[in-house]
Amino acid sequence: MSIQDTYRTDLADFLGINTDQISLYWKGRVGLYAVLKAMGIGPGDEVILPAFTCVVVPNAILYTGATPVYVDIDPNSLCCETKSIEKAITPHTKAILIQNMLGLSYEVHDIVSLAKARGIYTIEDCTHGFGGKYQGQFNGLMSDAAFFSSQWNKPFSTGIGGMLVINNQALHEPLQKINATLEAPSFKDRLVLSTLIWARTYLLKGFTYWTLLRWYRWLSKKGWVIGSSSADELTGTSMPNGYFKGMSLVQCRKGIKSLKSLKKTMLLRKNNALKLHEWLLKHHKTCVPQPLIEDHAFLKYPLLVNDRAAFIEKSEKARLPLGDWFISPLHPVKSSLVPWGLNIDQHPHARYISQHIVNLPLEGDLSRLINFLELYQNEIL
Ligand SMILES: Cc1ncc(COP(=O)(O)O)c(C=O)c1O
Repeated sequence: MSIQDTYRTDLADFLGINTDQISLYWKGRVGLYAVLKAMGIGPGDEVILPAFTCVVVPNAILYTGATPVYVDIDPNSLCCETKSIEKAITPHTKAILIQNMLGLSYEVHDIVSLAKARGIYTIEDCTHGFGGKYQGQFNGLMSDAAFFSSQWNKPFSTGIGGMLVINNQALHEPLQKINATLEAPSFKDRLVLSTLIWARTYLLKGFTYWTLLRWYRWLSKKGWVIGSSSADELTGTSMPNGYFKGMSLVQCRKGIKSLKSLKKTMLLRKNNALKLHEWLLKHHKTCVPQPLIEDHAFLKYPLLVNDRAAFIEKSEKARLPLGDWFISPLHPVKSSLVPWGLNIDQHPHARYISQHIVNLPLEGDLSRLINFLELYQNEIL
């Protein structure tokens, strides 16, 4: 069996599905683009998505020629509610994206039923949620298709990388045709990624973390290493060269290895998340709603703070790596969102959350983090 097939089989076994339901890509966003094309989505069509996401999601929609239609999030679950999605449906709606935010899902079955009744496709954005479950069912198995990310900080890592799961058999054939046009990663792509994976594995230790992070940020800004997104993806809406790429052997090998420790890592994340949750409850701070706790895969724990820039600065001084994901409704774009057709004035929850959110790491010992939260608890909302 080829390395790719071994990896696909391992992923399928984990989820309890068939290997032929899985396709592998250079990044998760490429899987989204592929499935939109397989659904025949193009100019004149509308795709519903949250107004609180990563900019590469509307990009994939725009690359097909379709129009992204944004829906505000529910500020408690950070996901879209069925009733808000229903209001956004028009005769042009072809698909609804159901996003797992930081591992959290919400009303997935209701949204799928609504879409089915209207003849609309559903796609789960499980980039944060591989391995997590919603009401006892694995994330990604409830809708027509789902895409996942295995980029650095995701549930498990292949450096960068992504996959697509197809649950609707009718999409299989058109997807195979589209996958046949994937480019292979170049020698340079593979070399740079292997070097980064090696550096993360062997050099990124506690005491080198901050120095290497500074270097990595500087090198990515210059475009000298593979960052999560290219400059083109953050400034415009045309598909960059070399976007539609498959997964390399380097990524598959890393994936096979990382997947082996996923269950253990997920357990650690969940236990740590529950400790943070208790701390937030005890201090009367905003936390994940209790009924959703059981279903939360907990990639990170969302925390709302008054002044995010100041809070992150303090955490960096204390050498605590807090995440600043979703600092913008279309992360990480800080400039105008007009090119992506998002008028944030119409989505007040997405705007508010993107102004105040930080995310807490869930791996390792949390005692220093909890001491830090104790110290700055007045700044937590
Ligand atoms: C919500 C969301 N969707 C999609 C993606 C894209 O995943 P990838 O970087 O693997 O393309 C990301 C990336 O982090 C994300 O946060």
